[in-house]
Amino acid sequence: MSAERAAEVPAAGALRYQSGFGNHFATEALPGALPEGRNSPQRPAYGLYAEQFTGTAFTAPRHANRRSWLYRIRPAAVYGAFRRLADGRLTSDFREVEPAPTRLRWGAPPLPREPTDFLAGLATLGGNGSPDAHSGCGIHLYVANRSMQARFFYDADAELLIVPQLGGLRLATELGCLEVQPLQIAVIPRGLRFRVELLDSAARGYVCENFGAPLRLPDLGPIGANGLANPRDFETPVAWYEDREGDFELVAKFGGHLWAAPLGHSPLDVVAWHGNHAPYRYDLRRFNTIGSVSYDHPDPSIYLVLQSLSDTPGVSALDFVIFPPRWLVMQDTFRPPWFHRNVASEFMGLIEGIYDAKAEGFVPGGASLHNCMSGHGPDAATWDKATHADTSKPTALGDTMAFMFETRSVIRPTRYALETPLLQTDYAEVWQGLRRHFAPPPAAASEPSAPSEPSAPLAQSGHSERSAQSAGSPSGGRAATAPPRAQSESSTPAASASPSRGSVPPASSSRRTSAPFCVSERIRARFETCALKVERFF
Ligand SMILES: [Fe+2]
Repeated sequence: MSAERAAEVPAAGALRYQSGFGNHFATEALPGALPEGRNSPQRPAYGLYAEQFTGTAFTAPRHANRRSWLYRIRPAAVYGAFRRLADGRLTSDFREVEPAPTRLRWGAPPLPREPTDFLAGLATLGGNGSPDAHSGCGIHLYVANRSMQARFFYDADAELLIVPQLGGLRLATELGCLEVQPLQIAVIPRGLRFRVELLDSAARGYVCENFGAPLRLPDLGPIGANGLANPRDFETPVAWYEDREGDFELVAKFGGHLWAAPLGHSPLDVVAWHGNHAPYRYDLRRFNTIGSVSYDHPDPSIYLVLQSLSDTPGVSALDFVIFPPRWLVMQDTFRPPWFHRNVASEFMGLIEGIYDAKAEGFVPGGASLHNCMSGHGPDAATWDKATHADTSKPTALGDTMAFMFETRSVIRPTRYALETPLLQTDYAEVWQGLRRHFAPPPAAASEPSAPSEPSAPLAQSGHSERSAQSAGSPSGGRAATAPPRAQSESSTPAASASPSRGSVPPASSSRRTSAPFCVSERIRARFETCALKVERFF
């Protein structure tokens, strides 16, 4: 680096932010730098250049349109010729390995020993779609032990969602500086130039490249006007600039590859800007978590922080979901995340603590991938504990912050993801301890070869419990018609009528055929009682 002029980096803790998600901000680092009443005056103040920076098509609907106007020392057009850089472990080629339905899990990557900045420390685990098509995403881990020094980066392929897991980051961008610590996230718009500085000796975390539509806050529907991630908790930096000249490098990710161009000045020279296309940060601890206060476990869409919409109404291309500390109060309910197979594909990471579906193996800094229709859920130990828990008492679920990048398309692992020693090749073992606990009535068990008597057809409707009741079935329509079973199965200890450790509690077994109906009715009756009390109160 040669001559430098007036590097003005704000001191730690001195950064200021503007509140709100997607607001039309106006900010200037020098008084009067921001033109009034127009975007492109003939002669901007202080000899600055005016430049527009767009994040959506010019003609995008107003509610979705994103752009900012920048007033800078030099236009962004001033740089030399690009040359290809080695991509390292960074890739957008999601066709290099044939995807399998195998459930995958990785340990946390070790911190580097060699000097490694944020850009050099990126490693791609998987993704889908294509940067060229502006559709899909890339999922990466990062490790670093030093700040980016004489180089700046922008990603023309994607908006960047950065999820720190270890160590704080200062993101010095064209539109200002923002700092993020673990439990905070940052979003860098597509194309924005920035430098990553480490606030600690080392850093580790996750990055999601969102090739598609910019992330936005989800609609809340019946939740109302408040809840989940509240707009006012998103923070965008104020204008800040550095007037530096030297031998720098501008690194671009374009078309799935890295490119570098020489640059004789810092591109972080925007003295003032206005608009709604800007970086922001969010503290995950401010998420207003919503859950069931009666029974059952709601779908994880209640944990949705940000989403990138697809072309299909109601279907996200990418969801960013978190599983924060919360109270579990659902009665007579299996409280951990249930067993499931999803049409969506799920990449999960853990920022701190323990995830409530798996107490071991899923470590902070690690990751897991459950692709479309791959069955998964709690491990055996978690199932056993939750099945025997006293659900008449609330449980405080603390010391945890897991997250998920959930996508519409299959997440295709990279070759690196399948060959790295971080891959836990025995992951599927976590479910092998889930033994059978099926205990049919003794009559059904004693006549394994005899066909069952035809039973009354079960009512099948959106309100099956009430419909079944009206159909006159004494057990609410859920007749105890066990399918024919082999004798060897019925003789296993788990199928015995006498309960053992890990089996279904006796109380549930004894009312097996009618329990779902009775539970619902009991809760319904409680609601009605409560409603009456509320009416009387008012
Ligand atoms: Fe899942």
